[in-house]
Amino acid sequence: MSFVGAPVNRTDGWAKVSGAALYSAEHPVPNLAHAVLVTSTVPSGRITRIDTRMAEQVPGVLLVMSYENAMRLPPATRMGKLQPPIGRALTLLQDDRVYYNNQPVGVVVAETLEHAREAAARLQIEYERADAVLDFELAKQSVHPPGTILGEDPDTRRGNLQTGLLTGSARVEATYVTPYESHNPLEPHATIAAWEGDRLTLYDSTQYIKGVQRIVAETLGMPADRLTVFCPFTGGGFGCKGSVWSHVVLAAMAARQAGRPVKLVLDRNQMFGPVGMRPATEQRMRLAALSDGRLTASSHDVTSYTSVIEDWTEPSALVTRMMYESPTQETSHRLAKMNLGTPTFMRAPGEATGTYALECAMDELAYELGIDPIELRLRNYTERDPDKGLPFSSKSLRQCYEVGAQRFGWHGRNPAPRSMREGDKLVGWGMATATYPMRRMAAKASVVMYPDGFAIARSATQDLGTGTYTVMTQVAADALGVPLANMRFELGDSRMPDAPVSGGSMTVASVSSAVHAAAGALRHKLASIACAHPHSPLHGAVPEEVGADAGWLFLSGDPSRREPMALVVERHGQGPIEATANAAPGEEKNKYSMHSFGAVFVEVHVDELLGEIRVPRVVGVYGVGRLLNRKTGHSQLMGGIVWGLGMALFEETLIDKRIGRAVNGNLAEYHVPVNADVGTIDVQVVEEHDPYVNPLGAKGIGEIGITGVAAAVANAVYHATGKRVRDLPITLDKLL
Ligand code: MOS
Repeated sequence: MSFVGAPVNRTDGWAKVSGAALYSAEHPVPNLAHAVLVTSTVPSGRITRIDTRMAEQVPGVLLVMSYENAMRLPPATRMGKLQPPIGRALTLLQDDRVYYNNQPVGVVVAETLEHAREAAARLQIEYERADAVLDFELAKQSVHPPGTILGEDPDTRRGNLQTGLLTGSARVEATYVTPYESHNPLEPHATIAAWEGDRLTLYDSTQYIKGVQRIVAETLGMPADRLTVFCPFTGGGFGCKGSVWSHVVLAAMAARQAGRPVKLVLDRNQMFGPVGMRPATEQRMRLAALSDGRLTASSHDVTSYTSVIEDWTEPSALVTRMMYESPTQETSHRLAKMNLGTPTFMRAPGEATGTYALECAMDELAYELGIDPIELRLRNYTERDPDKGLPFSSKSLRQCYEVGAQRFGWHGRNPAPRSMREGDKLVGWGMATATYPMRRMAAKASVVMYPDGFAIARSATQDLGTGTYTVMTQVAADALGVPLANMRFELGDSRMPDAPVSGGSMTVASVSSAVHAAAGALRHKLASIACAHPHSPLHGAVPEEVGADAGWLFLSGDPSRREPMALVVERHGQGPIEATANAAPGEEKNKYSMHSFGAVFVEVHVDELLGEIRVPRVVGVYGVGRLLNRKTGHSQLMGGIVWGLGMALFEETLIDKRIGRAVNGNLAEYHVPVNADVGTIDVQVVEEHDPYVNPLGAKGIGEIGITGVAAAVANAVYHATGKRVRDLPITLDKLL
């Protein structure tokens, strides 16, 4: 019996489509009041006057909270950075300073949402505006190096780059630009805060309930065990819900001051500023190669913006460090301070933007050399991570290129630009490499079986719509040896065993290891109890000889000696039987470099007169270790590819350089692919066994899907048109 890998339907699918699944703003809390976040209208300066009279006249208003009357927080946490990157520099109404437009400056609480909104609109705030840096072009003129980025050095150097550049017979030097992009999960950030004496309950839409518990408790100066966080369903996250942002703490403060439970939901426009975005980047690439295609030099220099209150770095050059063999190399990251909200993790931070630059530059180099783009990559293929000097724990990229090329029909391609047509459309074929690191952190889980044979596994993790409920049910049922229908997985409650942030594509790698261990421990416990009981057919056997399947324990050497697990629990007579386990990465992570890889192939059709770009088909082939569920897994990879198409062709947060606000801060004008923009997507996962990443050999797939796609599209557009567009998104005006 093996449920792991099977295309099992989502265990929470029915709850979701029927509306039974409660998202954070939907939990019924008695006596609930409604809060509206008020945000700044200038990008920099001070608040000089707050007139609350008009607001307070609105019926049902309970609280108008600003820096003038907000509760004082322990000084150490004011604007302080608490355990970055999850604990961020927040603005919590402790002073009159404004650092960016759309920054939280007040909270209005009323009996109804309508009254709170009306009062918020009537709140009059005057500012003394100060100089603000709002143009990335100008900001770039003064940059600084960040500290470490996700534990890595911002700069690296290997060999003598100048010599390497001169040694090559072909060179590419190009600068690629990516815009500000904003995550827009359909469920915006939302928090319900309810106090009972000195105990606080939060229903918060988050990728990290344990992080919310710890950071909100520290910020408010209370012990973490007095705070409970619930998040049974997260309506999308993509990185923006990986950190605790100001509104979460403000909801708790407002509830305390109003003396009522309070619900605070960000409006769509507030998703563009106070909760992070992908920063604009400028990436300078230099590559040189011998005539046979072997790289002699590679460099990748990244500038991205950060806010004036915190350094946050888009680590775009990390991908260049590990992707290809290159005897000389330099990489760097620099930050330009701007009066915008702090940028943050957005799906494949670093790899999404970094693969765009690197994989376009490789395509340009292929044309310089007259070598097929796949062949060029194969000539620089490496089985060792050249930056870390470690072998990869597994790497199936060669196979991904092969399978992808075959499924796509790549070998029929005429490499000359503008050489392919279909009717009045120019046809282009492009490819690129995809990659994402295999991350894993310590996690805990428990599994309990009841006398009726039903079992529940638990871990304080999250399901962002990605399938955590489903795959953990599969893992637990397999490891315990019970039918799927007899296993339930529960998550989203901070009182459950610890789990890490659902970011960095690490939930499966981290939590499945703990669930697997806990279910295995329970199975062993049940076997021990059975073997010790005189009435059991297994009496006298040793637990290690006992197998489990479909809810039965049996003797491996003589399967006729067997009994139901439920009977073992019942006869034991002490209620449910539980086991817990911790699982943490071991020594292997120091011995191997762990990454997923893939290959993306894209066909574009470009209208020669109008410049309109369509993408009739994409082939994406990935090596991601063991895929825990073929259905949810393929869907997630497909979703990543769709987002990659958005990054390539549509997405851009347009900042007004006069006031520092997004002018398209809504779902109507922030363009993303709709169904009509997406053609056929062929997702394949190659068989890959990796014994080093974790017990199940699963690498995590949340982010790799978006990587490489923008480059493959840009390369296809070049092939179709002969135009190399080096700034995203590739809108039609750039082709005319
Ligand atoms: Mo992901 S951007 O690490 O949630």
